[in-house]
Amino acid sequence: MENIAPYYHQVGKEVEVFEHAYKNKIPFLLKGPTGTGKSRFIEYMAYKLNKKLITISCHEETSSTDLVGRYIIKGAETIWSDGPLTTALKQGAIIYLDEIAEARPDVIVAIHSLTDHRRELFIDKLGETVKAHNDFMLVASFNPGYQKGFKELKPSTRQRFIAAAFAYPDAIIEADILVNETGIQLEIAKKLVNIATKIRNLTELGLAETVSTRLLVDAAKLIHSGLPKRLSVEVAIVEPLTDDLDVVEALKDLCNLMI
Ligand SMILES: Nc1ncnc2c1ncn2[C@@H]1O[C@H](COP(=O)(O)OP(=O)(O)OP(=O)(O)O)[C@@H](O)[C@H]1O
Ligand SMILES: [Mg+2]
Repeated sequence: MENIAPYYHQVGKEVEVFEHAYKNKIPFLLKGPTGTGKSRFIEYMAYKLNKKLITISCHEETSSTDLVGRYIIKGAETIWSDGPLTTALKQGAIIYLDEIAEARPDVIVAIHSLTDHRRELFIDKLGETVKAHNDFMLVASFNPGYQKGFKELKPSTRQRFIAAAFAYPDAIIEADILVNETGIQLEIAKKLVNIATKIRNLTELGLAETVSTRLLVDAAKLIHSGLPKRLSVEVAIVEPLTDDLDVVEALKDLCNLMI
């Protein structure tokens, strides 16, 4: 099977910055709201650098054992099984800890020695220290928005990373992304981006997160596959944003005027 490059449209200098971070093996933190291309970017960079990518979606139950490894019972034997972090370390892969702030605190403790000059991992269950392969790199993502005051990353953790902020791209780039991702006409892509820009500026709505590029891509896909435009916008953009009926009605009216 041929390996095709993931499509990623550069928004700023992030590609160059990442290449240098990789060359210097400095851990990389992707910050930004949902649907702004963080995952797509790392897939693209792994492809570009020809490195294996191992992604872990962190949630509140994610522990260091899940990442480092555990003993498992196989027949009459107990054998050690490397977790994804240990595997990445040994193979020289890029590990992507998605939503790192969600993980249990012991995960953060486990990665500390990996994110400084030591580049090694102590596996306490084995009493062993594993040195990182030269090609190993640690990448993490973090959504500062809805985690405000809730789940933060400590400065002693944050300052172990180079950080790049992901946000909604400029209108021209975002329209381009919609065309490339879905095959939709540029005219319609521009209208969708206008709707997004309008809603993003309505800060008085108090939405937890506003229209992401992901929602626009979904709307564009529906339109491209033949669903009426207004209905596509309603189900892909308006309804996912809020359950407040008044806000839904107001946003529907606004969108209907714009598409
Ligand atoms: N710069 C970009 N180039 C190409 N596609 C993009 C870009 N930004 C966003 N997209 C589109 O938006 C979708 C969502 O992006 P992605 O999954 O990378 O978001 P994310 O930032 O990882 O979100 P989350 O925080 O929810 O995981 C992608 O599937 C892609 O279609
Ligand atoms: Mg993601």
